[in-house]
Amino acid sequence: MKSIVILISGRGSNMEAILDAGLPLNISAVISNRPDAGGLATAARHGVPTCVVDHKAHATRDAFDAALAESIDAFAPDYIVLAGFMRVLTEGFVKRYPRRIVNIHPSLLPAFPGLHTHRQALATGVKIHGATVHLVTPTLDHGPIIIQAAVPVLTDDDEVALAQRVLTQEHCIYPQALRWLAEGRVRFTADDVVEIAGINVSSYLGEQQLLVPKE
Ligand code: GRF
Repeated sequence: MKSIVILISGRGSNMEAILDAGLPLNISAVISNRPDAGGLATAARHGVPTCVVDHKAHATRDAFDAALAESIDAFAPDYIVLAGFMRVLTEGFVKRYPRRIVNIHPSLLPAFPGLHTHRQALATGVKIHGATVHLVTPTLDHGPIIIQAAVPVLTDDDEVALAQRVLTQEHCIYPQALRWLAEGRVRFTADDVVEIAGINVSSYLGEQQLLVPKE
């Protein structure tokens, strides 16, 4: 069975969705860069070993990433799963684990990389928003897309309401993406586009399910 280490910085609701999903994966550890991350207690309750690599204890990004890599490598995971991990990783760190770092980002990438994605979506006036699970490359919030989920942006949405609607979908698509990785079904075309063995888009998008508003 493949194994993962999950990295968090905060409440860890995506981490919890992954822990609760019964995936065919060994979840070797949860590592936080913040000692006060709420998700640490949740992981411990689930019986998953936890540790903290405090970014504040390291003078540079390189030093932090080296300490983080050392902690991760002690568990020898197949995949490193970023679940609300709010540190930008150095190019050296990312290149150490090619196609082995997975991230969830709360937008339909390539739209709205970076922070405050729901605010950006509202300010831009997009009518469809969502979330993306992708493999990590040295470019922030970029890399081969494994799965996305779309939600409508409603007229009276604020950031909180929109974030909650997206988060509900995050909790579905992150476990699904990890299940495909666990099953060894994530393949890459020559252009680094992800294909899932045994799935094509029409398998999960019914012909009539176009996201078009009606009067
Ligand atoms: C999620 O919206 C995730 O996509 C983003 O930060 C949030 C983390 O939430 N990167 P949680 O810690 O998983 O609850």
